[in-house]
Amino acid sequence: MKSKLISALIISIIMISFSSCENEPATDLTQTSFIPVPASVTATGSSFQIEKSIVVYYEEGEEGLKQTAQFLSEALAQITGTAPLIEVVQELPKEGIYLSLTEDEQNTGNEGYILTIGKELISIDATGAAGSFYGIQTLLQTLPVKAEGDQPIHIATGTVNDFPEYGYRGAMLDVSRHFFDVEDVKRFIDFLATYKMNALHLHLSDDQGWRIEIKSWPKLTEIGGSTEVGGGDGGYYTQEDYTELVNYANERHIIIVPEIDMPGHTNAALASYPELNCDGKATELYTGTEVGFSTLCTRNETTYQFVEDVVREISALTPGPFFHIGGDESHVTAHDDYVYFINRVQKIVDSHGKRVMGWDEIANASLIDNAVVQFWADIKNTTMGVEQGAKVIMSPAKKAYLDMQYDSTTHLGLHWAAYIEVDTAYDWNPATYIEGITKENILGIESPLWTETITNMDELEYMVFPRLPGFAEIGWSSPDLRNWEGYKNRLAQHGKRFEAMGIDYYKSNLVPW
Ligand code: ACM
Repeated sequence: MKSKLISALIISIIMISFSSCENEPATDLTQTSFIPVPASVTATGSSFQIEKSIVVYYEEGEEGLKQTAQFLSEALAQITGTAPLIEVVQELPKEGIYLSLTEDEQNTGNEGYILTIGKELISIDATGAAGSFYGIQTLLQTLPVKAEGDQPIHIATGTVNDFPEYGYRGAMLDVSRHFFDVEDVKRFIDFLATYKMNALHLHLSDDQGWRIEIKSWPKLTEIGGSTEVGGGDGGYYTQEDYTELVNYANERHIIIVPEIDMPGHTNAALASYPELNCDGKATELYTGTEVGFSTLCTRNETTYQFVEDVVREISALTPGPFFHIGGDESHVTAHDDYVYFINRVQKIVDSHGKRVMGWDEIANASLIDNAVVQFWADIKNTTMGVEQGAKVIMSPAKKAYLDMQYDSTTHLGLHWAAYIEVDTAYDWNPATYIEGITKENILGIESPLWTETITNMDELEYMVFPRLPGFAEIGWSSPDLRNWEGYKNRLAQHGKRFEAMGIDYYKSNLVPW
C-alpha cells in the first residue's frame, strides 16, 4: 500500500514536472536551432508572447518592406491560424512586430539585419528589404511550426545580429532532363527562401529538352520541348510562365539565373532546327542520359543569329544580372571552335547587359571582364579563370551535387563524382577547397540538382533534404561558426519543419532526428 502511494506520488511529480516543462516559456534565445547559424545571438532571459491580435508594423516611407510584412503576416497565419494586421507607422511602436530599414553602418551589405526580441516588441532593423526578409526567416525559426490549440506561443528574448558570408547563395534545378512545372519550381523557390538562399539557376536546355519559349524560334519548344529522359511528355515554360517564376522568386529576394547550355548539350535545339547543324540535317530527339555528343555548328553565322535571339529574349525577361552560357562537356566541338564560340557568345551576352556565367570549361576561352566561372570539376580550368580575373561560384561535384547518392543504398541519383552523406555535404569550406582560390575570388556557393534520375517532387525532395540547409549555411555563415557536431544537432530539430512542409527527406543515421 505504502509503495503504491509512493509510486503514485512519483508519477504525479513526474507528470507535473513534464507539464510545467511544456508550459515553461522559452527564455534562452541561444538555444534556438537556427539554420544558417547567425553571426551572433545573445539572450536576455525573458520571453515574448505572441498574441493572435499581434500587429506587423513597417516604417513609413519604406514601401519595399510592405511585401516583407505581408509575407510575415501570411507565415504567422500558418502557425497561429490568424493573419496579423499590417500597419504603417512613423515611430517605433510600443508592442507588436516592427520592420524598419537602417544605414549599413557595419558594412554588411544590403542583406544584413538585427532582430531584437524584447518582452513587448520584436523589431527587425535591416540594411535592405532582403535583410528584412532574412530577419523574418530567423524569427520564424524561433516559432513552433504550428500552435497547439489555443496555447500561447512564447519565444525567448534577445538579439540576433546577422549578415551573410557570401553574396551568392544558390541552387540549380535541371528542368531539361525531366521537366518540373511552375508550381514545382515555386515550391523549390520556397525551400531556398526558407534558408536565406538568393539565387535559383535554371538549367533550361540540354540534349533531352528545351524548356523556355523563344518567340523568334518557336520550334525549340514545339519540338525540342516535347520529351524528356525516358521518353515522357516533357514540357516548357511560356514566357509568361517564366515571368511568373521570376516574380515569385523576386518577392522572396531570389534571382533567377537562366542557363542555355552551349555549344554542347544542345541536341534538343539541333533536333528542332536543321540549320543549326553543320550538315543541315535535324538530329533525332534524345531521351537517354549520355553526355558530350552534340554541338552547335560554331562556324556558321546562323548559329550566332540563334544565340543572339535566344539571349535577347531571355535577358529581356530576366531582371537578375547573370546569363549562364553552360559551356561544359562539349566533347565533340574542336578546341579552337569551342574557344571561338565562347568568345563570341560572351560578347552577345554582354551586349544584352548581362554578366556571363559558365561552367569551369569556359576558362579555356578569353574571358570577358566580370565573367563568372562555376567550378564543378576541373581545378585547372577554375584557376585559369581566376588568373584571367574571373570570379568563382563553388559547386564541387564531390561535395555540392544534390543528385549524388547519399550512400550505396540510395535508390535515386548517381555516384560518378562521389557518395555524399549529409556530413560530407556540410563539412567543407569554399575558401580553402582549391589551393590559391580564396574568399576574395569567390562570389558564393551553388548546389546543383541534375535530374537524369529525378522525375517528380517527391524524388527531388528526397535528394535535396536534408543537404540543402547545409549548403545554405556554408553560403551564409562564417566558417568560424560552423562545425558538424553542432550542426547535426540543429539539423535534427529541423526534421519537424521538413515534415510540416510535407517534405519526404532522407533520414540519415548520422543525424540525431
Ligand atoms: C556538369 O555537371 N556537367 C556541369
